[in-house]
Amino acid sequence: MKLLTRFTFASLLMLFALFAVCIADDGKTNANEGNVCSTNGGNCTCTPYGENGELMVNCKRQRFTKLPNLVNLPKTGNLDMSDNEIHTLEKLEKNIITHLSLHTNQLKSVANFAFELTQNLIFLDLSFNSLNSLPETLFDDLGTLQYLNLSYNNLEFLPKDIFKKCNSLFELRLGHNPMKQINGDTFVYLNNLEILDLSHNEIFSLESTAFHAMTKLDSLDLSHNDFDSVPINTLRGLKSLIKLDLSNNPIKTINEASFYKLDSLKDLTMNHMRHLVDIKKKAFSSLSNLQILSIQDNPLLSYIDPYAFKGIFNHSWIAIREVSFRRNSLSTLAEGTLPFCNLTKLDLTENPWRCDCHLHWIKYCEDQHKKTFQRGLICANPEKLRGHELDLVEHKKLVCEKNIGIHHSSMFFSISIFFMFLMLITLIIFVYRDRFASIYGSNRKQGSIYYVRAQSENEGVN
Ligand SMILES: *[C@@H]1O[C@H](CO)[C@@H](O)[C@H](O)[C@H]1NC(C)=O
Ligand SMILES: *[C@@H]1O[C@H](CO)[C@@H](O)[C@H](O)[C@H]1NC(C)=O
Ligand SMILES: *[C@@H]1O[C@H](CO)[C@@H](O)[C@H](O)[C@H]1NC(C)=O
Ligand SMILES: *[C@@H]1O[C@H](CO)[C@@H](O)[C@H](O)[C@H]1NC(C)=O
Repeated sequence: MKLLTRFTFASLLMLFALFAVCIADDGKTNANEGNVCSTNGGNCTCTPYGENGELMVNCKRQRFTKLPNLVNLPKTGNLDMSDNEIHTLEKLEKNIITHLSLHTNQLKSVANFAFELTQNLIFLDLSFNSLNSLPETLFDDLGTLQYLNLSYNNLEFLPKDIFKKCNSLFELRLGHNPMKQINGDTFVYLNNLEILDLSHNEIFSLESTAFHAMTKLDSLDLSHNDFDSVPINTLRGLKSLIKLDLSNNPIKTINEASFYKLDSLKDLTMNHMRHLVDIKKKAFSSLSNLQILSIQDNPLLSYIDPYAFKGIFNHSWIAIREVSFRRNSLSTLAEGTLPFCNLTKLDLTENPWRCDCHLHWIKYCEDQHKKTFQRGLICANPEKLRGHELDLVEHKKLVCEKNIGIHHSSMFFSISIFFMFLMLITLIIFVYRDRFASIYGSNRKQGSIYYVRAQSENEGVN
């Protein structure tokens, strides 16, 4: 009996569910009432969200080969077509879409005026496709566009005027493309851009005017490119730049000119630079607002000049807070390089430290402020401290004795040699004193004869 009731209940539930699905399926023509809105090609979920009944249409992973027919879904405001098999983007019918995602498809081409009737677009994601080129007119009707993602494509260049109408653009992602160069005029229209990602391209130079219009640019990612020096002439105009990533570029050295006049910068990252050898005097002296600095995983970086940060801090002004010099080839770091004891974070681990008197300050900081800067620092030198953790080495063992030793013994050595030489000379003079005396004597005679002769000749002339 009990079993039977349970069975009936279950079947009733199933029936109800089936009924619900049927109703929902009907939403094909009346989309904003149901959750599933099947279109010709696949199944989407439709969720109303806006004041005017706009729909969020989610068609992810449905093996669509083209966009669904929007005639049936005229209220679509947000269309997610990601993870499908669309290879060509035809011109969209008239629509009210504000957010369109087409990432992770197989797009190879886009119609010239694909968005001519899409005039409210704010967000467009075309990332993870196979686009090699874009029509110059593609964004001409997208004056409202704020977010554009073109990363992970095969774009080798951008048509010069492609962003001509994009003066509302706020964020532009162009990472992971094989671009080598960018025309100096391509970005001149983007005077509201705040975030630009150009990472993972093959850019080796940028015209000095390329970024001049972007006076609001706040965050710039140039990592994973082919710059062999900091493109400072291009960066200099960026009055609002706060965050800069230069990681993974073949930059060899950082010097006084590298960051000249980038005084708004607060967050600088230079990791994985396999050619970076040294950081020279005053390299960061322009960055008086710098707060976060990451210089990590640079296998050849063995020297940071003690005056690299000269002028960016003093007794009353310290902007810098977090510094990482992790995993470089530093063996020492001068105490006054940075106001180390005032930093809130300092990572010095995984460097081949020479644990001598020059690293005393690390311990001093710990004693004064209970900081943990030296935790995990392993000494590579001197030999007798190799492998020891700096944290566990006593203060008095951090000595520069080898230097002092060499100095003393070499001085002693020179003095002994000098005295031995002096004794030898005295001995020689003593042994051959008679011969010396005779030579001296004859010389004197010859000298006086000569003197007399010269004297008389002179008199003759007069
Ligand atoms: C759409 O849903 C129907 C019914 O659930 C199913 O038979 C069909 O395979 C689905 N289509 C796709 C493309 O997933
Ligand atoms: C593309 O960029 C936008 C921001 O511009 C971001 O919101 C979106 O998640 C990115 N797309 C992918 C697939 O990461
Ligand atoms: C300390 O540095 C700040 C910022 O660079 C500067 O404005 C200030 O005049 C300096 N103060 C002193 C006492 O040097
Ligand atoms: C830096 O730390 C010292 C204490 O070690 C402190 O006296 C000094 O005021 C700090 N300086 C700033 C600018 O915060």
